Amino acid sequence: MADGEEFIVTPYEVRGRIDYARLREQFGTQELTSELLARLRTLAGGELHPLLARGIYYSHRDLATILDRAAAHRPFFLYSGRGPSGPLHVSHLASFELCRWLQERLGAPMYVQITDDEKYWARAGLTREETAAWGLENLYDILALGFDPRRTRVFFDSRSIAALYPLAIRVARRIPYSTVRAVFGFEPSANIGLVFYTALQSVPCFWPSWEAGEDVPCLIPCGIDQDPHFRVSRDIAEGLGYPKPALLHSQMIPGLLGDAAMSTTGNTADNALFLNDPPKVLERKVKNAFTGGRATVEEQRRLGATPEICSVWALWRTRFARSDDEFRTVTEQCRSGALLCGECKGKLIERLHAFTAEHAVARERAKEWAESAIVTAAPRPL
Ligand code: TRP
Repeated sequence: MADGEEFIVTPYEVRGRIDYARLREQFGTQELTSELLARLRTLAGGELHPLLARGIYYSHRDLATILDRAAAHRPFFLYSGRGPSGPLHVSHLASFELCRWLQERLGAPMYVQITDDEKYWARAGLTREETAAWGLENLYDILALGFDPRRTRVFFDSRSIAALYPLAIRVARRIPYSTVRAVFGFEPSANIGLVFYTALQSVPCFWPSWEAGEDVPCLIPCGIDQDPHFRVSRDIAEGLGYPKPALLHSQMIPGLLGDAAMSTTGNTADNALFLNDPPKVLERKVKNAFTGGRATVEEQRRLGATPEICSVWALWRTRFARSDDEFRTVTEQCRSGALLCGECKGKLIERLHAFTAEHAVARERAKEWAESAIVTAAPRPL
């Protein structure tokens, strides 16, 4: 793989320098146009979430069908998920943060899937107890973002299997092994849990329609790496008699060490800011983070820095700039050389501390209702 030329994006691997426009073409998804964003802004009461306004969400499938539903006040729901392989890092919050906002602005129910089975099958180093325990910890962090307890339900795979399985039986029969092999690129040595797993990730797309006994379309905000699963879901939807799920895809949030994604799979823990990192550790990680700065202060004052390649700028962009004005200011001052990396990192660290302190409180409140949100029973026998 020649550096800067090739990249790989699948649900199980993200590598290289990602050309997002090309990735969209490879995957065959649609561009998130300013027309669609303008429609969403109007439906959402005149504002856009920063993840949309700042271009982190950039691609979609069939978003217009969901906007039509919302405009007609007809039901649809939101769905996203997490494979619990360890603590959450800040980049994992992006899709849930957008879901929370969409739930608040459009009044839609939210379904969260926690795939403790998937991560056990995908990661040789993890025990069953570990993925289940991380699943619960991750769920508290997700719900703490401010989801509405009355309109939020959770599929915790190992505990919700009785609710999921009747539909999984039907879904699995429609997915040929050749599709799974081609879509995910599994080696012959891959365990059969993973081969089956994609059926379980499809089930929530259809579950609310099954429960309601009528079409309830699904919108999935997720990282674009998850799109392959939902290509499979979309292919089988019609045969099952359910609407195809619509998707909103985000770019990956870059890692602190300058990688394409803030992942610690096959990388050191310094690539990511974990929600459970102690303050000192967060500080050290930000201080050591890869930036778009110059070799010397003098050069940077004179020539400016390059925000687009900077992992710290990516954090301002995704969550820590409080307004679009502030985001624009940080960007301009970085580019002009007015803001040096040390000062910029210091400001970000302050925001990070404020966020983790607030989050810790919200997390305790989320624990009170997390268990009751887990779905354990199927609506009715098939
Ligand atoms: N496979 C995802 C992961 O590894 C977890 C997941 C399940 C998911 N359902 C989802 C992600 C729906 C996005 C949308 O993290």
